[in-house]
Amino acid sequence: MNTQLILIDKEAPSAAEIQAAAQIIRAGGLVAFPTETVYGLGGNALDPTAAAKIYAAKGRPSDNPLIAHIADREELEELVSEIPAAAEKLMDLYWPGPMTLVFPKTDKVPYGTTGGLETVAVRMPSHPVARALIRAAGVPIAAPSANLSGRPSPTKAEHVFEDMDGRIEMILDGGEVGIGLESTIIDVTGEVPSLLRPGFISEEMLKDVLGQVEVDAASVGPMDPEAQPKAPGMKYRHYAPKADMTIIRGDQNQVIKTICDKAERALGRGKKVGIVCTEESLPVYEERLQSAMTSAKAGEDDVLHLAVIGSRKDPSTIAHNLFDVLRSFDGMQVDRIYSESFEGGQLGDAIMNRLKKAAGYHIVDV
Ligand code: TXA
Ligand code: MG
Repeated sequence: MNTQLILIDKEAPSAAEIQAAAQIIRAGGLVAFPTETVYGLGGNALDPTAAAKIYAAKGRPSDNPLIAHIADREELEELVSEIPAAAEKLMDLYWPGPMTLVFPKTDKVPYGTTGGLETVAVRMPSHPVARALIRAAGVPIAAPSANLSGRPSPTKAEHVFEDMDGRIEMILDGGEVGIGLESTIIDVTGEVPSLLRPGFISEEMLKDVLGQVEVDAASVGPMDPEAQPKAPGMKYRHYAPKADMTIIRGDQNQVIKTICDKAERALGRGKKVGIVCTEESLPVYEERLQSAMTSAKAGEDDVLHLAVIGSRKDPSTIAHNLFDVLRSFDGMQVDRIYSESFEGGQLGDAIMNRLKKAAGYHIVDV
């Protein structure tokens, strides 16, 4: 399949391009498009054949349900059989935006889209390209993140192209996304709403609105192999760069010292090393690892890849760059990755959820 890559104005998407993309969706094909969280891989949410194509393009297990994206509140009615009071409150505040709600589904939503579940996840994105596409298609759009299953989610069209070239009809390139981490998912079907995946909208923000919120264990820690996470996707290996990755957590000076020690040893053994650092810590690594790098170089460059993920003064930069940094390690073909830890603040849980999964929950406390 020839994949068309179409540049589109993020703020004012042109009608001709949106129509061409919408036509593909209506005809049962697949279009990747930007949202405010990550790029999505869209197909008609009411067409089980389109859902099957999405699973095939991603190489994703078909028991892992898709999120249906809508542009207007009225579209919710045909998808969900009940709108609980908690959902009304959350939608009023956070839609359109980076929040997905899990509802009981209607018969209109095929099991092919929901992975066989009686519930459906729905999100109303705020990104102008996503909204224009959904409206023009005239159907809700099922869209998982537009990466190959297991790879970091795409935050730029280049990432989508890397994974999806030849697998889908079209990629709408609206530049870099804003947030960079997938939406917060809340199941509102139970007595107490349950946080299934942390995102830009944090547990605290949800508690402020709802009073009480349960946190699904799969969203914070490694899965008990016996347990069933409520969001089936949480049980799969995710976001993983190809190299082994370790998170070092604790007092910041101690963290930097430990990462330098580990990096020196790995470089000494002839390994290529990647370090996830910040604008603040970069100069420290540059200075501390100078000699280890020079002696390890031995004619070859790039034995050390210092990847700046953002600034601790603005954690939104860390969220924004996280998946791009994880992907960059694959390009550099590093053998070992050491990462600082980024707990705390509104985005801390969402960032650490992705980072811990990428590291296979391999964390060293110092
Ligand atoms: O920000 C986002 O949510 C992005 C953009 C494209 O909108 N989409 C996204 O989709 O991250 P995906 O497929 O990569 O992740 C969807 C997650 C999976 O973990 C899946 O198991 C869960 O949502 N999910 C979907 N439907 C569900 C349902 N009915 N019940 C529980 N979890 C569900
Ligand atoms: Mg995904």
